[in-house]
Amino acid sequence: MLNLHAPTPKRWLDQVRPALDELLIDHAHCEKKAAGVALNFLFSYPEQVTIARDLAEIVQEEITHFTLVLDLLQRRQIPFRKLHPGGYGRKLAELAAHEEPMKAVDRMLIAALIEARSCERFALLRDNLDDEELSDFFGSLFESEARHHATYVRLAKEFAAETTVRERLKILAEEEAKIIVIGDNLPRMHS
Ligand SMILES: [Fe+2]
Ligand SMILES: [Fe+2]
Repeated sequence: MLNLHAPTPKRWLDQVRPALDELLIDHAHCEKKAAGVALNFLFSYPEQVTIARDLAEIVQEEITHFTLVLDLLQRRQIPFRKLHPGGYGRKLAELAAHEEPMKAVDRMLIAALIEARSCERFALLRDNLDDEELSDFFGSLFESEARHHATYVRLAKEFAAETTVRERLKILAEEEAKIIVIGDNLPRMHS
């Protein structure tokens, strides 16, 4: 369903479990970035009226997620702050084609893969954390991130034929899996 080519390695839970405060701060940044990505698409492709409503809906949902994480941080008296980002987003962005329309296809599919990985990790956190409030919280976000994944794959097809999109998704998913297997030293949602 999520088109991921490699499951999250076991080391990730061991990496983030002792750093849950930092993970939550990173999560807030991720939700804010996800809203920004959808908003950027609205600016990049204003002539694609058919995708505008889907994107606007994603912007709204991600901003709501952002405020939910901020609420959680506040309840736990964890100050929100800048964090050094992990390399995941940057490495994925470097894979995008430079020429349209494939640039649009790749950007949509990279957004789709980020949503899929978030979704997979929310399920891992839901199932493996002893903190009931946190596991419920991550569980509550699973469905919308899975839907965002499917929406971005569908929107990519507005820019290229279905077979082209499928082939490209396979290649990008393989690259995403390599990035995940290598991992990142920082305890992040996508490390
Ligand atoms: Fe979200
Ligand atoms: Fe999302």
